[in-house]
Amino acid sequence: MSNKIQAVRGMHDILPEHSPAWQFLESTLREVLASYGYQEIRTPLVEKTELFSRSIGEVTDIVEKEMYTFDDRNGDSLSLRPEGTAGCLRACIEHGLLHNQVHRLWYTGPMFRHERPQKGRYRQFYQAGVEAYGMAGPDIDAELILMASRLWQRLGIAEQLELQINTLGTAEERLAYREHLVVYFRAHHEQLDEDSRRRLETNPLRILDSKNPDMRALIAGAPVLADYLGEISSSHFRGLTTALEQAGIAYTVNPRLVRGLDYYSRSVFEWVTQSLGAQGTVCAGGRYDGLIEQLGERASHAIGFALGLERLVSLLEHTAIPVDTAPHVYLIRVGEAAEQAGMLLAERLRDAVPGLRLVLHCGGGSFKSQFKRADKSGARYALIVGDDEAAQDRVSIKNLREEAEQLSLSWGDAIDYLAKV
Ligand code: HAM
Repeated sequence: MSNKIQAVRGMHDILPEHSPAWQFLESTLREVLASYGYQEIRTPLVEKTELFSRSIGEVTDIVEKEMYTFDDRNGDSLSLRPEGTAGCLRACIEHGLLHNQVHRLWYTGPMFRHERPQKGRYRQFYQAGVEAYGMAGPDIDAELILMASRLWQRLGIAEQLELQINTLGTAEERLAYREHLVVYFRAHHEQLDEDSRRRLETNPLRILDSKNPDMRALIAGAPVLADYLGEISSSHFRGLTTALEQAGIAYTVNPRLVRGLDYYSRSVFEWVTQSLGAQGTVCAGGRYDGLIEQLGERASHAIGFALGLERLVSLLEHTAIPVDTAPHVYLIRVGEAAEQAGMLLAERLRDAVPGLRLVLHCGGGSFKSQFKRADKSGARYALIVGDDEAAQDRVSIKNLREEAEQLSLSWGDAIDYLAKV
C-alpha cells in the first residue's frame, strides 16, 4: 500500500505547465477591469454560515448540500465560501461603503463546493467576480455584459461563447408567477422526477433549470415569467436588450434561465460554450438588489457576475497563448572561479536589464550536463562562464535555438547584447 498522501478529491494542483494560461487570463482580466474603473477587494475565505444561508438561500443546492461547514473552537458555525458575492456585500455593508455611493469592485480566489467532481467541476475552484453597487440600471447591466464580451475578445475565445439572458422580475412578480407554475406542475405531477417533486414544495422555479432530458417537454410547456412582469421590470429588460443591440452584442433570451442562487431579481445572464462538455457555463450572474436590505442595510442596487477560471483556462488551452514564461538566458558556469564570477554576472545582468529572465545554473556538473539543462529550460541563449572567461571578465554567448556563431564578449558588451533581446 502506498503511503503517499494525495490531494483531497475534487481539489487540484495547478502545475507550472498550465501557469502561462492562468497568467494570461489573470493579467488580461486585470487590464480589462481597470479599463472600466473596477477596483479590487479581498475578503476572507471563511464567513459565518448564516451569511450564506441568508443570501444564497436555505433551500438551494449550495446551502443544502454543498457547503464545507464546521464549528470552530468557539462553537460558531463557519463555512468556506462557496462564492464571492455574499462576502463582498457583507464587507461593503460592514465598512459603510454603500451609503449614497456607487462602487465597481472585483475579486478573485478559490471557492469551495462539495459537488460531485467531474471535468470542469471541482470542490475547490477559482472564480473572478465583479460586483457593482448603487446603480439602478439597466445601463450598468449592459456595461457588465460589454465588459465580459471585451474580455472574450482579448482572450481570443469570443467565437466559442454564446450569451443567454433572462429577467427574473421582482420578488413579488416571481411570487405571482410561482403560483401559476405550481398549479401547472401539480397538474402534471406524475411526469415530475424525484428532484422536481421535492423542488415543487421548496423552490419550484428551480424545476425549470432541470437537466433531466425526460423533463424537457414538460418544462417547455410551462408558463413563462415574462407574462407576469410589471411595467418597470419589462422596461428594465427592454433597456438592457436595446443597449446590447446598440453595442452589437448577440444574445439569446432564455426564459428557462433561473440561476441556482436565490438572491437574483430582474436581469440574469450566462455565457456558455459547447466546447467543454456538460460544464459549459464560464460566466454567470445578474442583479440582486433585494439582497442588500435582506442583509440589514438600507435598500440600494447591486449586480455582478463570476467567471469560472478553470473552465476559461480549458478554453484558452485550445488556443495559442501569447505568454512566454521560458527564460531568455541560462547561465552555465564550470570551475570554482567561474562559479563566483557567474553569480556576480547574473546579478549584474538583472540590475542592468529589467525584465530579463535569467536562470543561473546551480548544483555544479560538467559543461555537457549543464548544456542539457539549458536546452530543457527553453532558454534562447546560454551564457557560458569557464575559468578562462572568469579570469578575463568575459562571457560566451551561444544561441540555443538558431544556428549562429558563438560569441565571446566583455561583461559590458554582454549587457548591451542582452538588453536587445
Ligand atoms: P455561479 O453560477 O454559482 O454564480 O458560479 C459562477 C461560475 O463559477 C459558474 O458559471 C462556473 O463557471 C463557476 N463554477 C461554479 N461552480 C463550480 C465548480 N464546482 N467547479 C468549477 N467551476 C465552478 C456565482 O457564484 C455568483 N456569485 C455569481 C454572481 C456574482 N452573481 C452576482 N454576482
